[in-house]
Amino acid sequence: MKRVVCPGSFDPITNGHLDIIGRASEIYDEVVIAVLVNREKSSLFTVEERIAMINETVKGLENVTVDSWSGLLVDYCRANSISAIVKGLRAVTDFDYELQMAQVNLQGSGVETMFMATAPTHSFLSSSIVKELAHFGGDVSSMVPGVVNDALKARVAGK
Ligand code: PNS
Repeated sequence: MKRVVCPGSFDPITNGHLDIIGRASEIYDEVVIAVLVNREKSSLFTVEERIAMINETVKGLENVTVDSWSGLLVDYCRANSISAIVKGLRAVTDFDYELQMAQVNLQGSGVETMFMATAPTHSFLSSSIVKELAHFGGDVSSMVPGVVNDALKARVAGK
């Protein structure tokens, strides 16, 4: 039984995340999406809001579950019998930071990280870009699931 984790802030989840999660779910027995705290970033949505949007989006994927964690990712892996972390790489600009984290996680705990290439159609996509566009009224409907598009519009409108 190979259980892996797709970790991230998911503030909010994008079609780029979903591409990686969907492809990982075809390779591994079980994929856990873990909403974690990235101390470098301030968030637009609460963890509960992010989880609700993710649950709505992945409900068709039977071997995918959603969880949250406020500590170290490797401690989550240990506590949940998770053998590997799955991460998407969009471009070489992601590589330095992701390699550093993968090496810290490997050195400290032996947890492996598997990198998947993001589909080229999503290589420019990030939660930050989506939030910036949405903030100024840009159309992000092709970049995020419908539930996220609606939530972004509502948040921008001050709801
Ligand atoms: O979507 P993000 O913001 O790029 O995801 C980064 C995240 C949340 C996966 C990363 O910051 C993380 O793993 N945070 C939990 C704390 C941790 O384990 N940090 C890495 C070791 S120093």
